[in-house]
Amino acid sequence: MTVDAPVAEGSFDLELSEEQELVQRTARDWARERVLPLAGEIDEKAAVPRELVAEMAKLGFMGIDVPERWGGAGLDTLSYALVLEEVDRACASTGVILASHVSLACAPILRYGTDEQKDRFLAPLARGEKLGCFALSEPASGSDAAAMRTAARRDGDAWVLSGTKNFITNGAFADLTVVFAQTDPAKRHRGIVAFVVEKGTPGFSVGKLEKKLGIRGSDTAQLHFADVRVPDDHRLGEVGQGFAIAMSTLDGGRVGIAAQAVGIGRASLEDALAYAKEREAFGQRIADFQAIQGKLADMATEIDAARLLTWRAASMRDRGERYGPEAAMAKLFASDVAVRAARECVQIFGGYGYLRDYPAERHYRDAKITEIYEGTSEIMQLVIADDMLRAKG
Ligand code: CAA
Repeated sequence: MTVDAPVAEGSFDLELSEEQELVQRTARDWARERVLPLAGEIDEKAAVPRELVAEMAKLGFMGIDVPERWGGAGLDTLSYALVLEEVDRACASTGVILASHVSLACAPILRYGTDEQKDRFLAPLARGEKLGCFALSEPASGSDAAAMRTAARRDGDAWVLSGTKNFITNGAFADLTVVFAQTDPAKRHRGIVAFVVEKGTPGFSVGKLEKKLGIRGSDTAQLHFADVRVPDDHRLGEVGQGFAIAMSTLDGGRVGIAAQAVGIGRASLEDALAYAKEREAFGQRIADFQAIQGKLADMATEIDAARLLTWRAASMRDRGERYGPEAAMAKLFASDVAVRAARECVQIFGGYGYLRDYPAERHYRDAKITEIYEGTSEIMQLVIADDMLRAKG
């Protein structure tokens, strides 16, 4: 099916290419067979699924949108969104490990790194030999990212980093961190620089591991930088460009979180649908009650709408268009849909939905984070509104 009418600012083709369909099928089959059976245990034990990460590397997912020249699969953002939806439909912990690695670690090195940095840092990430993470947030600065306190001081041909980063997905296991630091607090965002810091660099250590409501099988760590000496050839982009690097990276990351939310929403719908067809009350399947049908119909409609917003943002990125506000719309809407779908899933399961024996409560706990990380829903509203207000003058 092709839609010619403009969708907001641009039109886009709703038909997946043969290659995209193949990627989607591959991800779906793998996630159903390998990830879904482990998802409950990964959550229960809060165990990072290292073996699934290795399998994702073999499938090419860890460098899915990185050109083949640097060890990636050379596919597009839409293919990436398709993979994430399938992985997250099975297990949101596995999904966020993949999303943080691809969107937040590989992407800024691909976009802002020199060829030498790409050979050295990006290629092993894209091949899945190494795991990456992104360190922006700090104990006292989350939404107000420009207020970071981690300091970068120039010392000869190197930099000395000192400070603490918070809420870092993959932080404990990552081999490589894209980290942001401030050279001069008076300059606010114009003083920020981005660096690549490798595991094992003296002074760099992993601190507290967070205990979380959901996505319990992904690690969330504090990272400490105690006078960490980083050579200048580990700097990404120019001095003062770090904030723009972080923000443009997050634009892409938000497409990934929107796809994750669609996956969690779909898990909620599919599990609720299956249960409603089995469970009987008052002498009939609960699926035969209009009250349940109304919930299922709303879930399906909203998930489809969220997917379309996500695909639009992904397609705009693939065409090289400015897509930040559309990515924010996709994340804002899809995360809200995921939370609502998961809540209705619990409701349809009734008392069983509240028990750990069934996946409904996991979806509910996993869905919530999509409204918070990589920019809260309130920050998404700000990004969308700011763009409208600027455009109207
Ligand atoms: N791309 C490129 N540049 C951008 C940009 C973008 N998307 N957005 C803003 N900028 C540039 C602006 O053009 C401006 O540049 P100039 O000064 O040269 O004109 C500069 O950045 C400052 O812009 P703002 O004045 O809009 O900046 P602000 O300080 O008011 O902040 C904000 C804007 C939208 C609130 C931003 O701080 C933000 O997105 N905050 C949320 C941070 C976030 O998402 N954190 C999540 C961390 S990752 C995570 O969740 C953990 C994990 O591991 C999963």
